[in-house]
Amino acid sequence: MPVSIRPLHPVFAGEVAGVDCRELLSAEEVSAIEAGMDRYAVLVFRDQNITDEEQIAFTRHFGELESYPTAGHIRRREEQRLGPGIADFSNLDKDGRIMSAEDRVWFFKLGDRLWHSDSSFRPIPAKYSLLSGRVIPSWGANTEFADMRAAYDALDERARGEVEDLVCEHSLIYSREAIGFTDMTQEEIAAFRPVRQPLVRTHPVTGRKSLFLAAHAGAIVGWTIPEARMFLRDLTEHATRAEFVYSHEWRPYDLVMWDNRQTMHRARRFDREEVRDVRRTTLGGDAPLISQPV
Ligand SMILES: [Fe+2]
Repeated sequence: MPVSIRPLHPVFAGEVAGVDCRELLSAEEVSAIEAGMDRYAVLVFRDQNITDEEQIAFTRHFGELESYPTAGHIRRREEQRLGPGIADFSNLDKDGRIMSAEDRVWFFKLGDRLWHSDSSFRPIPAKYSLLSGRVIPSWGANTEFADMRAAYDALDERARGEVEDLVCEHSLIYSREAIGFTDMTQEEIAAFRPVRQPLVRTHPVTGRKSLFLAAHAGAIVGWTIPEARMFLRDLTEHATRAEFVYSHEWRPYDLVMWDNRQTMHRARRFDREEVRDVRRTTLGGDAPLISQPV
């Protein structure tokens, strides 16, 4: 069955048919999915009951897995429930029990409910993220996506001129600070030292411009912090207006793939007494977007 894509939203996001994520894809299938990502930026694959190994193998059709030094992990290897190559975005601890509300790993997770682009706080931000829904709570827990190309296109000429050459500083510490979680270790402060990212980026294939925003952005080079925070807050409000947002309602075994270069996303609330088991594989970007100060 050939790969086909049905739109899920007026401006972006599509549902894919004709792909079994457990199988090795042909070059044609890979190209069709990549073209779909360039067009839709978010793709949903339904009914994909996959193992972690199958998810990793499927992800690697589209590039190299993101990897970074151990210091950049919130949980040490021995505290992790899943093996290497796949990140645990569940509310479970390493023994499979629901995490305590006071667990600091949970505090880090809560920060994902702010609009963001994955790994924008790393010198080479992520390309695609793939999230597999294994156990879905009975209420809430949608993932919302916002199209940053549409948000850019909707800026007036004056605003486009204003954002064009701005450089932001992103850190995981800024987004956690925003929810009142400031208790970081020295190791975390060093691992999450702010990195610079342009506020406007251009897609390498389509040439479309988009806003590169995230809750991780906490400063603008050459601006005062209060001025920068207010500007970024206003811009985020603009970029996440209802007409630019697709809200994904999870079904068990959905696999959702998104392009972090063209979208932002956020997790939504659910009953923390229920299990949410979702697992993410991430593709690294090609290169830093701009050079970092030495
Ligand atoms: Fe995320």
